[in-house]
Amino acid sequence: MDRIPAHIAIIMDGNGRWAKRRHLPRVAGHKQGMQTVKKVAIAASDLGVKVLSLYAFSTENWKRPAAEVNYLMQLPIRFFSTFVPDLVKHNVRVMVMGDTSRLPKATQKAVNDAIKDTANCDGMVLNFALNYGGRDEITRAVKQIATKVAAGQLKPDEITEQTISDHLMSAPLGKLADPDLLIRTSGEERISNFMLWQIGYSELVFVNEHWPDFNGDSLKRAIREFQGRHRRFGGLVNQ
Ligand code: FPP
Repeated sequence: MDRIPAHIAIIMDGNGRWAKRRHLPRVAGHKQGMQTVKKVAIAASDLGVKVLSLYAFSTENWKRPAAEVNYLMQLPIRFFSTFVPDLVKHNVRVMVMGDTSRLPKATQKAVNDAIKDTANCDGMVLNFALNYGGRDEITRAVKQIATKVAAGQLKPDEITEQTISDHLMSAPLGKLADPDLLIRTSGEERISNFMLWQIGYSELVFVNEHWPDFNGDSLKRAIREFQGRHRRFGGLVNQ
């Protein structure tokens, strides 16, 4: 287990199907999925991963039935109320990407408290995408850059790829902003608007397990697959 990807991003899919298979309501899948988040976060931290980005709620997930949306909004409260001491013990720092201002006040408080309570941890960053969408993120970045240009603080010619990266929600991650490995569970092979700019050169690994069945061993298998790939970043193998 050397050459551990520094930044792993996960699209946690399949909670609903996991529940349906067991004749349970969809939210039972989300509840079990939350337990998986705990296990996988600790497993990733123990392996030496530097950033774990998890797609917990997308800008499109508001279209789901209100009862399911409400349940998903309660999950961060439940998660952080029981798990922050463990995160601190493992030196894990919580970070969030997304427009949290639309989340219920109690959810915002749980998230902000977790960020504050783990602020001094300097191990793995556990980066939750909450009310996050890749296109929304890029749109906001373009607006901020355009505003600077209009104010004369920036010339169009000075805009580089780094300028864009610096205005994305992942900017606080600095050099670690781009995932090395993106995993999606449950057999679907699409990106669903997750970290569109940042995954330009990520290795993509799709696994069949539904998210509630994913665990530390599944993570290691995905990492092994990553390690078997030859990343060339547009160059040649033996350059
Ligand atoms: C996708 O499965 C999953 C989600 C939209 C929610 C993901 C949330 C969690 C795993 C829990 C998050 C935990 C915290 C701490 C915030 P799906 O419902 O789309 O499944 P389906 O494709 O089988 O219907």
